[in-house]
This record gives sequence, structure tokens and C-alpha cells, in this order.
Amino acid sequence: MTILNKKILLGVTGGIAAYKSADLVRKLRQAGAEVRVAMTEAATRLVTPLTFQALSGHQVMLDWEQPESDFAMDHIALARWADVILIAPATADFMAHLAHGFASDVLSTLCLATTAPLVVAPAMNQQMWQHPAVQANTAQLAARGVHLVGPSSGDQACGDVGEGRMVEPHELVVFLSTLFQSSNRLKGKTVLITAGPTQESIDPVRYLSNHSSGKMGYALAQAALDEGAEVIIVTGPSASRPPVSASVIHVTTAQQMYDAVMGEIATVDIFIAAAAVSDYRCEQVATQKIKKNSDQYHLILQRNPDILAAVANLENRPFVFGFAAETENILENARAKLRQKKLDMIAVNDVSNPKIGFLSDRNKLTILWKDGEKELQVSPKIMLAHDVMDVMLEQFNIEG
Ligand code: PMT
Repeated sequence: MTILNKKILLGVTGGIAAYKSADLVRKLRQAGAEVRVAMTEAATRLVTPLTFQALSGHQVMLDWEQPESDFAMDHIALARWADVILIAPATADFMAHLAHGFASDVLSTLCLATTAPLVVAPAMNQQMWQHPAVQANTAQLAARGVHLVGPSSGDQACGDVGEGRMVEPHELVVFLSTLFQSSNRLKGKTVLITAGPTQESIDPVRYLSNHSSGKMGYALAQAALDEGAEVIIVTGPSASRPPVSASVIHVTTAQQMYDAVMGEIATVDIFIAAAAVSDYRCEQVATQKIKKNSDQYHLILQRNPDILAAVANLENRPFVFGFAAETENILENARAKLRQKKLDMIAVNDVSNPKIGFLSDRNKLTILWKDGEKELQVSPKIMLAHDVMDVMLEQFNIEG
């Protein structure tokens, strides 16, 4: 994985995260890339062009009129020069421009004039990020093949906490490396991925579930799409957004997830079970809300079908890749699942660590197969998902 000698055009727009873009330029250059920077007018009010000029070693492209400029390339030449255009941070305003094809400043014009892949790292207030208009623009960009990285969640400069932070510079460097690495290795293949939690009703208002957000499964779906696969996601209820280019089947219960998977499996080449499926459901779902008349209430639970084991036992089975969510004896338990469920591979995560696994934007996985294993380091789920694809494709002969 490398960005050595790659020509990266960094677009900086007017979000407070622009100060991180200075560090991003340093990191890109340290990794061996050649970097040119273009800024919107709003970005120049947050960080001076001189900062980026000093760090990139090149004059910054600002706008049409640069009379005193010794800029060696016009905007069309710069758009042709780039191996990739990375917009970081990308504000809601700039993403709207991009989604609607405006060429109102030099950066949006560069984005229209290029054939290079476009990578966008959104950064904005969490409420803005959730706005339907921003979400519609994001979906439109994704549908057009724009690579969206983040946003991640956490504390924001405005004091809010939530989804909207720009992904960290070192993570963007890794993302670009994986992007250059991806090469349609799964073209012609169909990948079916389960994601998210399931919900098992207790009565009309309550259910049994778990903390899965669907993020790991959706990241795997994006990585498979980046490798050229057709992707089907069967997902339980999730507040996260699945990649736009995947076919998505929404389900609620484990039984529905089982039925949806079995309905699709005949044409599937690779099955990845990232969902956190309820092992049990209520034997009887109360038709009315249960009243709190006694100190204790007993539920009788019944086993749900094991979707992963069922797929692995099919006569004409696809490549079967399971997950294991463990809290103790992590590797031993995962290896037992690999063997007992007759899987080709399994990825195990320690879900007792609140910084990774469930809900988090990051995870740490160890991949196990019959006669080997590979430990992957903590990183954003989208990058881990690309690493998972690499391990799978290195170890097994399943390329398209
Ligand atoms: O969704 P996120 O918030 O991003 O979190 C990601 C994750 C922690 C949910 C994910 O990385 C993960 O570990 N998924 C598997 C969770 C799980 O249910 O693990 P398990 O060890 O209980 O199950 C083993 C395997 O059997 C899993 O592949 C599971 O999908 C599958 N299974 C389990 C039960 C069942 N009835 N049917 C199944 O297919």
C-alpha cells in the first residue's frame, strides 16, 4: 500500500478542520506523494495560502485571477495532472456545489474538469450533517462514484458531540493508499453481507437487541464495491447509512434476516456475516404491552436459526466469511467458531473494549483461517474493511 510518487491535488474548503489539512499535506509528502493545493476563498480566511505553499512546495491555486502568479499550470492542466483529488475538509456548501455540478470557483471547476477519482472528507456541525439536504447531496455524490471518507463522530469545535468531524489526516493517507491498491479484484463477483443488529419483539413496545450500528458491515460493503463487486446488504435496523451503490434489504428479526439471505444466496460468490444476530427470540410475543405487576418477569426464549452455519452447510456454498464478537479467550473462541461452523475465514473482535467494535468508527480485527492468522491494527472501519479484502484475496483464489 503506497502513495509514493502519486500526484495528489488537495482541495481545502472553509471549515474549521482546514487547520488539520496543513498536517495532511506534511503527511502526504512524508509518504512520498507530490501535493498541490487549491483553496476556496472561505478556506483562506481560516488558514493562509502561504502555509500550504510552504508545506507543499508549490504555489496554491486560489481563483481565476492570479495576475502576479508564476503558477505553472492552469486549472485544466492541474485537473489533468492529478492522480486523485482529495477535498479535505469538505463543507456542506462545497458538497452542494459538487453534487449540483457548479463551477463557481476554481476548486469546483477542477472537480468537474478531472477524470481522476474524487475523495471527499466531509466536516461540519453534526446537525448540518444530518440535514436531509446534506444527506441527499452526499447520496448523489456516492451514486456518482465519489469516495466519501467519514465524517467520524466525537467532540466538535462548536461544542456539539456527534457525527461531523473530519477524519484524521493519517487516516486519509491510509485511505488513499488503499484506494490506489484497489483494482477491481472482485469484478464479476457478487458479495452478500449481513450487517447491523436484529430486534426480537417482547411486546408491542419492547424488544431484545444489541449495540451493533451496522458500520462494520457497511464498511465491508464499500470495500467490496471499491473492488468492483456487486454488493447486496441484508441489514437490521441501523441509524448509519449503507453505501448507495449496494442493493439493500432491510429486515428486523433474525428469522427475516435468515429468509432474506437464503432468498439471495444462490447467486452469491462471497458471504460475509458481520451482523450481530440475536441468538434467541421470545417464544411468545405478548400482543399487549406487558404491565409491571410483579417484581420479576420471566421470558422464555427460543433459539433463532444460525444464518452463517446454514450458509456454510449449503451444498453449493459460496466462500463463507464469518465474524466473532468475543469478550474473553478471543482467539480460542474464534478458532472454535471457524471449525464448528465450517467457515473459510473468520474475523474476531474484542467487544469488551468500548473504543472499538460495537458502535465505534474504529475496530481491531484478527483474521483466522484453517492454517493461518493475521492481526490487523486499530483503524477506521473503512480502512480495516480494505485490509480484510486484501487478506481474503491473498489467502484464497477468489478473484474475479
Ligand atoms: O455494527 P458495528 O457497530 O460496526 O459493530 C461491528 C460488530 C462488532 C457487530 C462486528 O464486527 C461483529 O463482530 N459482528 C458479529 C457479531 C456476532 O453476532 O458475533 P457472534 O460471535 O455472536 O456470531 C458469530 C457469527 O455468526 C457472526 O458472523 C454472526 O453474524 C453469525 N450469526 C450468529 C447468530 C445467528 N443466529 N446467525 C448468524 O449468522
